[in-house]
Amino acid sequence: MREMLGVAIEAAKEAGKILKENLGKSIEIGFKGEINLVTDIDLKSENIIVQIIRNKYPDHQILTEEGEGHKGTSSNKWIIDPLDGTTNYAHGYPCFCVSIAFEKNGDILFGVIYDPVLDELFTAEKGKVACLNGRKIRVSSTDKLIHSMLATGFPYDLRESQNNNLIHFNNLIMSAQAIRRAGSAALDLCYVAMGRFDGFWELKLSPWDVAAGSLIVREAGGMVSDFKGGAFDIYSKEILASNGKIHYEMVQVLKRGMV
Ligand code: IPD
Ligand code: CA
Ligand code: CA
Repeated sequence: MREMLGVAIEAAKEAGKILKENLGKSIEIGFKGEINLVTDIDLKSENIIVQIIRNKYPDHQILTEEGEGHKGTSSNKWIIDPLDGTTNYAHGYPCFCVSIAFEKNGDILFGVIYDPVLDELFTAEKGKVACLNGRKIRVSSTDKLIHSMLATGFPYDLRESQNNNLIHFNNLIMSAQAIRRAGSAALDLCYVAMGRFDGFWELKLSPWDVAAGSLIVREAGGMVSDFKGGAFDIYSKEILASNGKIHYEMVQVLKRGMV
């Protein structure tokens, strides 16, 4: 496990280097949807990560956002977002990261998230601690929603679907101290894990957005569930993560907005 975690860290840092070097430079922007972007740097980042992992573990499955992954033959599965925060990146807004998780038989065993701008490396191993640059991190101790700073995001189909998070945003902004929409779900989760945010919720995310971050929150002492407080699954479409202390209050507000 240690060796694989080392490979994940190496891949995240190599990819992070590419992201940082190209930030603010002229990049190629493509569209997966009207407001869903992909850049040549997403692909470069993905390629280097896949190359590093395949080189070491040729039979492992690799699930990636941009489809450069590998089917593999073993039950070992890597789940990768090569650039979480693509819209930010395309605008030169320095809030984005690389996210890599390792899953075996349905369990996330470790997660690595790297922000190359702040040189912040978040790591967690299942059943052990969560760390930022090698130092143990803990969730915040805020115990009231009204004193909490929350984070969220909105799905790319927000104009076509009524299930677009606006109702939850309206309800929670009236109940919390503040809400931020920073544009990187993986970093939002890390910030819950280390106490910069007290809670985070979002819908219609993909496994690569949440696989590493959800483990990092749990190993930092936080809670992760669906909007009703039930079991969380990285392949499902709802995530609520918090320091645990405000979880129930967030569930109560989220339930009000559910049809
Ligand atoms: C997106 C970011 C954003 C979230 C979106 C995600 P991407 O990932 O995490 O914060 O609101 O729903 O899809 O497309 O930049 O990898
Ligand atoms: Ca993402
Ligand atoms: Ca991405």
